[in-house]
Amino acid sequence: MGRKKVLDAPHSRNPCNSRLIRLSVPNLIFIFTNLPASPVLTANGVLLIVARFMRFLFIVVLLALPNVAHAQVPQDATSELKLDTGQEIFEAGCIACHGPGGRGQPQTTLGFEPPATFPDFSDCNGTVREKTFDWTATIHEGGRGRGFSEIMPSFAEALTPDQINKVVQYLRTLCDDRAWPPGELNLPRPLVTEKAFPEDEWVLTTTVNASGDGGVSSELVYEKRFGKKNQLEFVAPFNFAQRDNKSWIGGIGDLILGYKRNLFHSIRSGSILSLQGEVSMPTGNRLRGLGSGVTTFETFAAFGQLLPGRGFIQIQTGAELPTDTTKMPQAGFWRTAVGKTFVQNQGFGRIWTPMVEFLADRDLQTGARTNWDVVPQMQVALNKRQHILANVGVRRPVNNTFGRTTQVMFYVLWDFFDGGLREGW
Ligand code: HEC
Repeated sequence: MGRKKVLDAPHSRNPCNSRLIRLSVPNLIFIFTNLPASPVLTANGVLLIVARFMRFLFIVVLLALPNVAHAQVPQDATSELKLDTGQEIFEAGCIACHGPGGRGQPQTTLGFEPPATFPDFSDCNGTVREKTFDWTATIHEGGRGRGFSEIMPSFAEALTPDQINKVVQYLRTLCDDRAWPPGELNLPRPLVTEKAFPEDEWVLTTTVNASGDGGVSSELVYEKRFGKKNQLEFVAPFNFAQRDNKSWIGGIGDLILGYKRNLFHSIRSGSILSLQGEVSMPTGNRLRGLGSGVTTFETFAAFGQLLPGRGFIQIQTGAELPTDTTKMPQAGFWRTAVGKTFVQNQGFGRIWTPMVEFLADRDLQTGARTNWDVVPQMQVALNKRQHILANVGVRRPVNNTFGRTTQVMFYVLWDFFDGGLREGW
């Protein structure tokens, strides 16, 4: 906290200088108006003027002295602290808690118990996945603004936006392993199209038929990242369908196990590409319409590209290859999501991401037609830390509408690496 005062100092202009001027004017008037009445300057008169001028000078010097001393503190402090580079700013304002190299001070020095999410900025696994924008917001708003510990102070007053950018750039240098895909390339998750970024998250997606026979299906997805570029995925679908006689049946669908590997990423071009392989097991009851009854391999490529102004495009394309094509034909698919993120509160608040998905799939059989769907949707962060998000949209068939109904889709997503379900509200 003491540090923060020093940082404040260059901004607080010396308030005493104006007092100096105010006092000097009446003093001057006093000297030059209160002259002896006689038009002839006597020796006494001259002495009087000199004496009064000396007294005026003395008062001025007395008043100015503390001002000079005071004014020099920030000047010295600025030149000593030299808050020009990110490292200098870090060493002046952050090192007391975040420690040399951002590794965190030992608890004995800290004087507080660090929260579980207290960052080690040299730990690539913990930091490269974070977005620069989120760090900027935490530094600007303080921990409280982002649902983190209030011990992390707000630097909105002490640092200029430019200085905050510089210190964030410095934090970015503390992990210099370029193999980790950076958080900037972690694009918002669409309802259907799969992302290229390896994630640590739980997602519960529910799809409800808006017309035709009643149908509700939910899918619980668990994604676990490991190493720099890998992710395991586990999907448990639960399906509920209305039968002709209007009664409902429900149960578990075909469980899916997947493995994703990031092949390429470039922050310079704003692109990321990953490959995924999956196996879907026939755990759902085929006769009751809950599963396909066949083991299916799926493989796809997922590509993400940043566009200017927080815009993006994501593409996923691949094939479903059942082991028994008499039960289910092979199919190919192409999914595209286009969207743009908006941030409330001057860029530090809640994120909203409207997106549209265009989905195409086609059975790989002669004479088969391509089904096209369009899915307008809106994703929004539910809590302050923005690690719990929701998305709601409508999936509309564009062609071949026979037997394909409009569906309402929504999900709740929890990025569990950033904190517990009840944290950050
Ligand atoms: C008084 C101690 C203190 C000072 C000074 C301090 N921080 Fe922090 N900072 C914390 C604590 C504690 C947290 C962890 C908050 C949490 O996880 O709940 C934190 C968290 C952060 C985070 C969030 C990291 C993440 O995982 O999202 C960033 C970024 C950060 N600090 C940057 C800075 C910068 C830059 C400075 C200096 C300009 C600074 N901090 C000064 C205590 C401090």
